Formats: sequence, C-alpha cells, structure tokens
Amino acid sequence: MNLAETVNAVFQQKFGYPPLHIARAPGRVNLLGEHVDYNDGFVLPAAIDRATYLAFAPAHTEQTTVWAADFAQGAVFTPQTLAAKTQPDGSPLPDWARYPAGVMWALRQAGLETPALHAVFASNVPRGSGLSSSASVEMAFGVAWQQLGGWQVTPMELAKLGQRAENQYVGVNCGIMDQFASACGVEDRLLWLDCRSLEWETLALPPTVAIVVADTTVRRKLTSGEYNNRRAACEQAVQLLQAELPGIHSLRDVSLTDFNRLAAKLPQETHKRARHVVEEIERTQQAVALLRAGDVNGFGALMNACHLSLRDLYEVSCPELDVMVEIAQSLPGCYGARLTGAGFGGCTVNLVAQEQAPAFAQALMAGYRARTGLQPEIYICKASAGAGLL
Ligand code: GLA
Repeated sequence: MNLAETVNAVFQQKFGYPPLHIARAPGRVNLLGEHVDYNDGFVLPAAIDRATYLAFAPAHTEQTTVWAADFAQGAVFTPQTLAAKTQPDGSPLPDWARYPAGVMWALRQAGLETPALHAVFASNVPRGSGLSSSASVEMAFGVAWQQLGGWQVTPMELAKLGQRAENQYVGVNCGIMDQFASACGVEDRLLWLDCRSLEWETLALPPTVAIVVADTTVRRKLTSGEYNNRRAACEQAVQLLQAELPGIHSLRDVSLTDFNRLAAKLPQETHKRARHVVEEIERTQQAVALLRAGDVNGFGALMNACHLSLRDLYEVSCPELDVMVEIAQSLPGCYGARLTGAGFGGCTVNLVAQEQAPAFAQALMAGYRARTGLQPEIYICKASAGAGLL
C-alpha cells in the first residue's frame, strides 16, 4: 500500500466514512545556499519525491480532529484552544500537532477561513533529517484549508503563512526556503529563489547527474535553540557592521570586500557565523552561473566548500555528517557532497554522475557503516512537484 492509500484507509477506519480529498506536500533537499535564507540570500533547493499525505474532509463541528498515522496518536483543537496550545480537555497539544494547529493559527491571523477538519496524515520524509518534514506537514494542511475554506492564495503566499506558523506558533525562527520549496516545487527542476525579493525561477539539472541523499540517521535534540542562536548571531553582525556600513539591512548587503575589511571588528564567533553567510551568498551566485554553463565540476566544488564552511565557520555539522561527506567525496563519480538543511545531524546531499549513482550509493552505505556502525539510508532522488491535491 502506498502512503496515499494508507491515509485513505486509516481515515475510513477512524471516521467511518471516506475522505473528501487527499493532499500531498513534498520535503525538499537544498543543493546550495545554506543558512542564508534568513539573511536575504539566494537558495537552490528542489522538492523531492518524499512527501506528507493528508486525507481530509470537513468535520461540520467546532473541533478539528487530526490523526497522525506515523505516531498512532490523535489530537483535537478548536479556534478557542489554539492560543493556549492545548486540546479541549486542557491537555497540551502533542509536539507534532503544533504544525497543523500552527497553520490554522496563521491562516486565521491572516483572516482566512479554516473550517474544522477530520484529518489523517502520514509522511515518508524522515523527521529531523534536514529534509523539511515539518514544512511538508504545514503545506499539506495549508492546501487542505485552502480547499475547504473557499479562498485561494498563491503557493508563495501559502509558504509565507507556513513560515509564520513555524516562527510564531512553533517557535523556530526559520527562513522561507523549506515552505517555499514544498509549495512551489516543479518536477525535474531545481528552484532558484531570491529570499529578499521572493522572485524565483526554475533551473535544469544537467541530465548526466543524479542527486543522492544520504541520511546519517543521527538526530540532534535542541536544534531549534541552536538554530535560533545562529540567526541571532547574524542579526548581531548586521547591527555591528551598521556602524561602518549604515545602509545595510542584512548580510546580503555586505560585499566580501567590505566584510574582509571590517570583520576584525566583530567578536570572534560572530565573525565566523557572518563570514559563512557572506561567502555562501557569493557561492550561490557563482553556482547558478556554473550550472547554466553546464560546469558540474565547478558546481560540485562549491558544494564541497559549503560543507567546510558549515563545519568550521557556522559549526552546524557533526562527526557523522563529516564522515558521510568525507567518504562520498572520495568515491568515483562524486562531484560534490555536503550536509543539507539546518545541520546538527540528518542528511547529506551528493551530486553524482548518473551512471555511477547506484555504485556510489552502495559504496557510501558500506563505507559509512564500517566507520560508524550505523546503517544509513541512501536514495537517489527525483525533483518533484509542489504541494497540491492528488
Ligand atoms: C532549516 C530552515 C530553513 C533554512 C535551513 C538552513 O531548514 O527551516 O529556513 O534556514 O534550515 O539553510
């Protein structure tokens, strides 16, 4: 049974009637532009062929009842219980339920109708792995409320509402990249987003390369705290640099030349964080030019440089991610390898010659297992369409 069939069957079993619709919203992998979305930079993600599936129907009551098939657990909320993040019986919402509840909260803040739902969801985006499982849940519920609420917004608007749910309800100060990729994904295409203007376009991946995702299976706790700290460091850097560069609003506005001239004035840790961002924004711009010119080697080299920067300057890697990247970079056919997403565990993304991808995946799996004793999950992924109804 595929996941769409699973949520359909579980819905029928839980609610005693079939769902009206099934929504699907993908996870994403990011090729370049890491930790720059909240600095007005550029990102280069793709929606992937792993997704959250949501079977739903209007509940015709006050209460939204959501069943998380992956946890075999339910939760109930109403517009009145949203602010307190509790269920009608006063018990706290389970962590996973804060994503759908947060979306309802953000939509209502925006004045959009959110009729109560009966809903069952399940996902094959691994949780906490850097592939945006939470954004995929948010976008699936966004699609559901849009369908039943009688309103329509653009996919980018839906992404912004999902980001607001995550920032203000869940409490992670994330940028727009994940919700954007989940909402706006296009089959077989990379997405190129300017996180300041929110203008975006799609780019082709050369037909001779494959995107291979490798999950270390390591999951770090406390990532939201670490994540929010990184963001705060970037904001501090902007504030300090404004003394010399009064016109800047974000690290996007700081050229590498200006940064090199002024960086010594920053506290050491802030310097490292900001240097990653300024250089990464530069890398993403070079990367697009290289991609357009079909220079896969050059593009891969920038991915490798990005990993070093995330490891040494932004300090969001971990030993298992470093091992996975090191092995990958030593294998035939690998153009570039780096951690993807927020870091602190999770997945790496690898750009690999298409015909060598299966052998690459096997060797990476064996090498990682030998070095760490952990069984990784590795798959060749396909860029997929964004969130919508099936
Ligand atoms: C998480 C956030 C994104 C982005 C990445 C790092 O996935 O949700 O907004 O900041 O980390 O690039």
